[in-house]
Amino acid sequence: MKSSLRTEVGGVSLETPVIVASGVWPMDPRLWPAGSIEGVGAVCSKGMTLEPREGNRGLRIVETYSGVLNSIGLQNPGVEHFIAEELPLLDNSGRPVIVNVAFETLEDLGKMLERLKSFRSMVVAVEMNVSCPNVSRGGMSWGVHLESLGSAVSMAREVWEGPLWVKLSPQAPSIGEFARASQEGGAQAVVVGNTWLGMAIDNDLERPFFENVFAGLSGPAILPLALRAVWEAAGAVDIPVIGCGGIARPGDALSMILAGASAVEVGTALFIDSGLPASICRELEANLTKKGLASVRELVGRARNYQGEIGERLR
Ligand SMILES: Cc1cc2nc3c(=O)[nH]c(=O)nc-3n(C[C@H](O)[C@H](O)[C@H](O)COP(=O)(O)O)c2cc1C
Repeated sequence: MKSSLRTEVGGVSLETPVIVASGVWPMDPRLWPAGSIEGVGAVCSKGMTLEPREGNRGLRIVETYSGVLNSIGLQNPGVEHFIAEELPLLDNSGRPVIVNVAFETLEDLGKMLERLKSFRSMVVAVEMNVSCPNVSRGGMSWGVHLESLGSAVSMAREVWEGPLWVKLSPQAPSIGEFARASQEGGAQAVVVGNTWLGMAIDNDLERPFFENVFAGLSGPAILPLALRAVWEAAGAVDIPVIGCGGIARPGDALSMILAGASAVEVGTALFIDSGLPASICRELEANLTKKGLASVRELVGRARNYQGEIGERLR
């Protein structure tokens, strides 16, 4: 990839600003489709928890018109298995590895980060998934309660010395405030965001498809929502914002960057087009050439310079 795509985001040096989002790729790079690593700047692990989790019962994925509903329930083999078996494989991929962590208690979070500390050389950043339930608040997500989020980020900051990113819940009442609380807690970047709660009904059986009734919506359906969230977050913090949600075409990634994202994460669209990271990089390079710019960093937030009346009102 051309050096114009090289960037530095939240304490991590990336060859390109395109990151594979958590939970959508196998942890074993030998299972990745041929050529799919081209254009990928970093790979996020599947969400790790302290103990193994079997995940949710029943249907886990339902396709919608322009997206996917998932109710995986954070199935994973637990942090010890991850460290022993999966982290070395991911490390072999030759791409920086970001470890996505999920937790129901601060104690779990602390223990997980303590374990990961010994493998610091293989982990370029920790990404906290704060969409998971907070047991001490009756299962309400960490990411929708400002104080809980702040305490979790501060605690993680004390334990984990490497780059710390927070992957915000898009269901947060005000994404800007939650992004600011992450920054104040010591996060070096915020990822905006995750899936949006939705549901689907099986008309024949006259019941919700999912055992948990609600599930997380991802894919192109959520791009406009994610774009708005990125815009708001970028206006609220000084740390970098990483855009995630609904990127399915190269131009979608460019829009995220113009809205204020310093890098992007791509998830669901990889199920359909494993060559998307490479296409995004080509689009970004072409855009830089067209504008006579030397670095992708110069594209970040350019739509925010819009001076029109509407732009002023929304900034
Ligand atoms: C099958 C599946 C599993 C996922 N697992 C995780 C996970 O373990 N941790 C996490 O933070 N996000 C997880 N996500 C959310 C994605 O990383 C991403 O934030 C979300 O899907 C929005 O991006 P997209 O529209 O590009 O897919 C998962 C998404 C899907 C579709």
